[in-house]
Amino acid sequence: MKTFALFITISLSTLTVTSVAGKDTSKRSPQEMDKFITELMDKMTIEEKIGQLNLPVSGEITTGQAKSSDVARKIEQGLVGGLFNLKGVEKIRDVQKLAVENSRLGIPLIFGMDVIHGYETIFPIPLGLSCSWDMAAIEQSARIAAIEASADGISWTFSPMLDISRDPRWGRVSEGSGEDPFLGGAIAKAMVLGYQGADLNNQLGRNDEIMACFKHFALYGAGEAGRDYNTVDMSRNRMFNEYMYPYEAAVKAGAGSAMASFNEVDGVPATANKWLMTDVLRNQWGFDGFVVTDYTGISEMIEHGIGDLQTVSARALNAGIDMDMVSEGFVGTLKKSIDEGKVSIETLNTACRRMLEAKYKLGLFDDPYKYCDLKRPARDIFTKEHRQAARKIAGESFVLLKNSSTTPGSSAAPLLPLKKQGTVAVIGPLANTRSNMPGTWSVAARLNDYPSVYEGLKEVLAGKVNVTYAKGSNLISDAVYEEHATMFGRSLNRDNRTDQEMLDEALKVAAGADVIVAALGESSEMSGESSSRTNLNMPDVQRTLLEALLKTGKPVVLTLFTGRPLTLNWEQENVPAILNVWFGGSETAYAIADVLFGDVNPSGKLTMTFPKNVGQIPLFYNHKNTGRPLKEGKWFQKFRSNYLDVDNDPLYPFGYGLSYTTFQYSDIALSTPSMEHNGSVVASVTVTNTGKYDGAEVAQLYIRDLVGSITRPVKELKGFEKVFLKAGESKTISFEITPGLLSFYDYDLNYVAEPGDFDIMIGGNSRAVKTTRLTLR
Ligand code: NOJ
Repeated sequence: MKTFALFITISLSTLTVTSVAGKDTSKRSPQEMDKFITELMDKMTIEEKIGQLNLPVSGEITTGQAKSSDVARKIEQGLVGGLFNLKGVEKIRDVQKLAVENSRLGIPLIFGMDVIHGYETIFPIPLGLSCSWDMAAIEQSARIAAIEASADGISWTFSPMLDISRDPRWGRVSEGSGEDPFLGGAIAKAMVLGYQGADLNNQLGRNDEIMACFKHFALYGAGEAGRDYNTVDMSRNRMFNEYMYPYEAAVKAGAGSAMASFNEVDGVPATANKWLMTDVLRNQWGFDGFVVTDYTGISEMIEHGIGDLQTVSARALNAGIDMDMVSEGFVGTLKKSIDEGKVSIETLNTACRRMLEAKYKLGLFDDPYKYCDLKRPARDIFTKEHRQAARKIAGESFVLLKNSSTTPGSSAAPLLPLKKQGTVAVIGPLANTRSNMPGTWSVAARLNDYPSVYEGLKEVLAGKVNVTYAKGSNLISDAVYEEHATMFGRSLNRDNRTDQEMLDEALKVAAGADVIVAALGESSEMSGESSSRTNLNMPDVQRTLLEALLKTGKPVVLTLFTGRPLTLNWEQENVPAILNVWFGGSETAYAIADVLFGDVNPSGKLTMTFPKNVGQIPLFYNHKNTGRPLKEGKWFQKFRSNYLDVDNDPLYPFGYGLSYTTFQYSDIALSTPSMEHNGSVVASVTVTNTGKYDGAEVAQLYIRDLVGSITRPVKELKGFEKVFLKAGESKTISFEITPGLLSFYDYDLNYVAEPGDFDIMIGGNSRAVKTTRLTLR
């Protein structure tokens, strides 16, 4: 084993992140790994093999108590393969010691955690992160998360979440990258490389790289009615053309593990679905990592109605699941199933081998304490460099939804960016809450250490702008709803004053201000797991507050916090400027100051459609045409596919987002108007920054296959490039179009590019595109 200190540098535009890493567990060959594991498995009893497949709850282990707890006893008996969501390197080292020193064979544990969008330095929620369309930044966010988590003992993260989601009622849309498979695939790759290391031949070689676990395999985002954990039912055609691509991209990027989803697929829960876990994942895609269930995924199959614990545990293992999270169905019943011939010893061996391979690849057999360097936390966690990176990426994730002058219809300058002068009143229930800044699924967050919007603005603008504050309203009028929406230490400290008293105070503060920054929307726990909603309007008391603030006649910027697309027709109509900041992570407040006051020009573009009302859901840009389509921009027409009470258009389409500057696209130039099956074509446009500010634009390439053997979507994203342009500057952007890019899964699920005509579209969002025609011969 080689030990050396190494400085690594990730250079990303202006920023450099430096981490002192430790050991390189220089890789041995696959043959050596096989031999090592075979020899080890020869020594293992059936119980010990099953033990490797067990991932129990570790809640009761705290430092010092490790020895006496129930989990500790199981670890010593060799009945535990790993633990998750334990925080603290000392604690993890103590527990690892139990496994290494007190269990018969000394097999190290794997320590997992939901490190979803950062560890202690928190990045934007994944939906926000995806709106940056900046793959280098996304990879960097995962890289920093890996550095920090590994410094604290974690070697395995339950990320990236790759579920395509088209239904904003589902709270977990916040955890994914939105509705598009092509973009989702690019992000999957960036995240896996960020966590595991970009060197495909030596991923996980270092002690600051951790194993990714892509999830939730599969189709979890398509639950009926946007209700969490709900049933999924879809054609294989839709699966492969619209949902599977990001998971497959993670496999290609070398992801070491996968997590099964809670939902059923084709009538069989994913956790027991052999077609999914073996035929597709392993045989078709060549995945060679291990698969863990989701939390109690095995025992939940009893509720799904497919058998008792022994039956469902056997079904899961036989389907291709390797590790049982929390159910303890494997440790509790597999031995019996083997004795009864319901599970073969070969199947158990396969799963056990995969778990040991994962530990081997992580280098834990070389050094079980590889991730337990007690000096690292102080050096590598929540560092200045990491926080700087998070601030920059947060600013990139914000989406400017509207920016007009304060007098509707006038040609006066738009409200944003604000001038650094006078008094700014920050008003709203989300204006002064530290714990709500990081966003949902930030398990390791330091909830009290991130500045609130009010605090951040005060700090950044000190000496220039007088910043004042009022809460203005509670989150929601219903106290019980507010309680459900502010769990896990993220309370908004409900105010016991009356709505009127709070409003009066806010109006008083507003009266003394030149500009109002209204910090409104969802609390962080209104999205995320088990946080589905049927009403996506601005919560009642907050709307009343917003109306009252607008009535003062002062300029109002809505700084919108949300974990999902909301229905914002009223706000779009009445508020001059809307900046959607999602939940931007630990540095959100500073990033808001950067963007509102023009130090950073917003460049985020939506990766999920914002509907006009809940009844339009699911509403996504890459839909099919139907036999009775309604033209874009039209309203009702009898006997067309539409509604009586609202048109089919979104409020904000996929790919949409404004800037303080404007961009113009030239017509598309094709290198040749037609291409052969083995050829390729280059489509180019010139993008010009026609405004007064420097800024970044995301140019998006869409295609439409006009005639297919099966119906094809009206648009599909097939390329994108984020380009920075100084005011007045032009750049030509080129996309290479290959037959592979035009391919799809046909009726028999063959991946084909069918000859014929394609519309090639390029523009700044999915609606504003230039179009030309390409023929594939
Ligand atoms: C349940 C969630 O569905 C999953 O995303 C998460 O990784 C596990 N719990 C572990 O916390």
